[in-house]
Amino acid sequence: MSNKDEKPILVTSPFLPPLEELMPYLEKIWESRWLTNNGQFHKEFEQQLTDFLDVKYLSLFTNGTLALITALQEMRITGEVITTPFSFVATTHSLWWNNIKPVFVDIEPDHYNLDVEKIEAAITPRTTAILPVHIFGNPCNVYRMQEIADTHGLKVIYDAAHAFGVRVNKNSILNFGDLSILSFHATKVFNTFEGGAIICHDEKTKKRIDYLKNFGFAGETTVVGPGINSKMNEFQAALGLVQLKHIDQSIKKRREISQFYREGLKNIDGIFFLNDIQNVKHNYSYFPVLVDEEKYGITRDELYEKLKENKIYGRRYFYPLISSFSTYKSLSSAKKTNLPIANQIAEQVLCLPIYPDLDNSRIIELIIR
Ligand SMILES: Cc1ncc(COP(=O)(O)O)c(C=O)c1O
Repeated sequence: MSNKDEKPILVTSPFLPPLEELMPYLEKIWESRWLTNNGQFHKEFEQQLTDFLDVKYLSLFTNGTLALITALQEMRITGEVITTPFSFVATTHSLWWNNIKPVFVDIEPDHYNLDVEKIEAAITPRTTAILPVHIFGNPCNVYRMQEIADTHGLKVIYDAAHAFGVRVNKNSILNFGDLSILSFHATKVFNTFEGGAIICHDEKTKKRIDYLKNFGFAGETTVVGPGINSKMNEFQAALGLVQLKHIDQSIKKRREISQFYREGLKNIDGIFFLNDIQNVKHNYSYFPVLVDEEKYGITRDELYEKLKENKIYGRRYFYPLISSFSTYKSLSSAKKTNLPIANQIAEQVLCLPIYPDLDNSRIIELIIR
């Protein structure tokens, strides 16, 4: 088949369940006319997800960004927060929306997460928290992170938007830190079109998060604080209930595709990929590779363009770095000299397409040639 007849392959294609599985739920919504505000499906989905993810308390949100913003409100985080420049912009934007100064710390070269050993040098009397990201679903060094946080009296809020279902030593990654947030955006391993959650470890905190996501209402006539509207609606929750029935199979298929990539790319000079980590249950949400121009012969951008010409649309996640965007670039921690590894990875990284029904053989062939 000539190149022009090939169907485009995007970096991801959202998993959707068979429509007939969703229809009975929609009929119930139409019958009850209960569309949002803690309806039946919201309650059921919240409980099923809490069990599935093996966490104590979880509060559903309409998206991950509002979950992040609300998580920072819940913990009353102020002043400065240490975070990574190698993420999606929403991570740092959530600080900005709370009038908090982001302080960027470099990432480590093995899995591109915040380098825990560089955190202490960035702590000042104004630092109140750390906002790390389990980037591409690979866990941060959660044990060392907690040690540093405990030593300095800091909160840890994990942006776990990529880490649905990930486990470390059999424990959910979401059980670490003070709070974690998830995203169920269309591009994520698990989607409710848009959606998100905050995971916390005690009932009191969940109660407050639930107030905050509903304008601060703590009863019909009591408002306990300047909450926001970030509730998940019944349609999203119904879809979530159906999606949960398919998630194990989706992750299994993603694992097979990752293994196929690894097998196909293992002997190519100048193309590096991440391997599974011992004692970690991965979700295979992304397949990032690094392109070493000297060894591979062409740059990351040239490979990106070559794939594009063949209708394969990888994404250069996360390039440019958040620290280089106009809102943040004047911060002293945003300087390139402060973030050498992040700058290097951002120049070399390319996320190859991955989704449950992908046939990635043509992508591998194009990279080999
Ligand atoms: C690391 C990270 N944090 C936060 C978000 C924001 O989540 P949402 O799109 O659900 O608002 C995303 C992606 O969308 C993300 O990749």
